[in-house]
Amino acid sequence: SKLEMFVDELPDMPKLQGFRFDAAGAPVAGNLTIGMYDTTWKFHRDLPPSRVFAYGTSRETATVPGPTIEALRGVPTHITWTNHLPSRHFLPWDPTITTASPRSGVPTVVHLHGGINPPSSDGNALAWFTSSLSSTGPHFSSPIYFYPNAQPPGNLWYHDHAMGLTRVNLLAGLIGAYRVSGPEEAALGLPSGHEFDRHIVLFDRAFRADGALYMNATGDNPGIHPQWQPEYFGPAVVANGKAWPFLRVRRRRYRLRILNASNARFFRLSLSNGLPFVHVSSDSVYLPRPEASRSFLLGPSEFADVVVDFAKSTSDDVILRNDAPYPYPSGDPTDELSGRVMKFVIRRRRERRRDPSRVPRSLLRYPAADVAESARTRYITMYEYESATGDPTHLYLNAKSYGDPVTETPGEGTAEIWRVINLTDDNHPLHIHLAVFAVREQRELVDVEGFKECMMRANDAVRCRVGRHAVGRRRAVPPWERGWKNVFKMRPGFVTEILVRFKPLGGTERTYSFDATAEPGYVYHCHILDHEDNEMMRPFKLVH
Ligand code: C2O
Ligand code: CU
Repeated sequence: SKLEMFVDELPDMPKLQGFRFDAAGAPVAGNLTIGMYDTTWKFHRDLPPSRVFAYGTSRETATVPGPTIEALRGVPTHITWTNHLPSRHFLPWDPTITTASPRSGVPTVVHLHGGINPPSSDGNALAWFTSSLSSTGPHFSSPIYFYPNAQPPGNLWYHDHAMGLTRVNLLAGLIGAYRVSGPEEAALGLPSGHEFDRHIVLFDRAFRADGALYMNATGDNPGIHPQWQPEYFGPAVVANGKAWPFLRVRRRRYRLRILNASNARFFRLSLSNGLPFVHVSSDSVYLPRPEASRSFLLGPSEFADVVVDFAKSTSDDVILRNDAPYPYPSGDPTDELSGRVMKFVIRRRRERRRDPSRVPRSLLRYPAADVAESARTRYITMYEYESATGDPTHLYLNAKSYGDPVTETPGEGTAEIWRVINLTDDNHPLHIHLAVFAVREQRELVDVEGFKECMMRANDAVRCRVGRHAVGRRRAVPPWERGWKNVFKMRPGFVTEILVRFKPLGGTERTYSFDATAEPGYVYHCHILDHEDNEMMRPFKLVH
């Protein structure tokens, strides 16, 4: 199956406004109904339509990715999520991992990633529901979600989060972008408007010749897990729902909001003619000032929000390339398929008018991460358990399964240092719901084997003297990753120290605008979906 590259144009997904205007022209809270539909999507000119599960306002208009939701800072959006999916999934499941188990139907629950939302609207993995709410999970309360949008402007995305099915439901197409805009952005002068400010949602997929999305039906060691595999990878790189698309651009600046929505693939992106990227935000929060790079690494669920100036291009075609090994960092190198993402076709003619956009010297400022604020230090350890044959059986955080009682209970309005110890061979993107965090440092462990042995026995970083082991090389955090983030790549064999903030960013409030201590609380997890589904996820609860 050789698909020709760069034959489909990069789609611009439909837009939905998360607000309305009142009679006086002021923006007020909006109500949307978004369904999940069993439909088809054409991923490439030469591929027959593929069966997908897609978000949309109707079956006919559902897309992969789904519509981009445009919200305004401080103006709430209410979304009624409706499940129109059939009685059975078209992709395989695995009953040997903890999975939502409905009487029938496809369990779904939507999480707004990067959203600062009440627990009942956070998309808890056990708040799932099936078509017509005929079956619901133990934490389900209502399919009508409340998004206050009381947070800084930035890039969010929505996706499924059903227990044990996140990898399958996202693979099927349940992914969409969400943006919070604020009036303070206008003065920045960045490229704007639908033509020059674009979302690029990336994921990798495997297709069969008949167009069907391919997901393995058999695990690597079916005696342990009949279907689950440690990481899903596909040879095709898909941007906004098209495999290796192209985008015609003018000789001017563009803002590209690039999301890695893959199950497990990391992307290390660069432009074939060496053009730089200027990062203006990372994940959901603006950086204090722009930071340039020629190449950057995006783990699953990370956003890079960059400005590229095509006026500086010396060539007419530019390929967006990827050279991140998979699994990252010690897997196979990319090949001619996964090594390319999309092509920018630059208009030859110079622009008649001057480019009105600019990249200002400073962007938006928020309180800096201050260790003095930290109320305590916690250790979060990443473990991978193997069978006697060396096959992974499950991945745990702090040697605990998702169902074990809550152990992380930060105080609302506080900040904490989390030292994340990665004892596995893979890089795991750790995502924390509700909070934002700043990466302070990454320090290599020395004598990993000795330390690991102690940790596997005692699961106590202090008793195993983490201080004696976390003394190796320091790995610098790139400047464009030093802002407030909601996910970060935990390097294998390193301790990554982050300062996690459990209070609103911006303003002086110490508490959220809703009861953040309510049931069912929040979660933190690895955003490699195959890991998250196999228990690399833990609950946390805020307390007063
Ligand atoms: Cu993007 Cu808990 O997820
Ligand atoms: Cu992981």
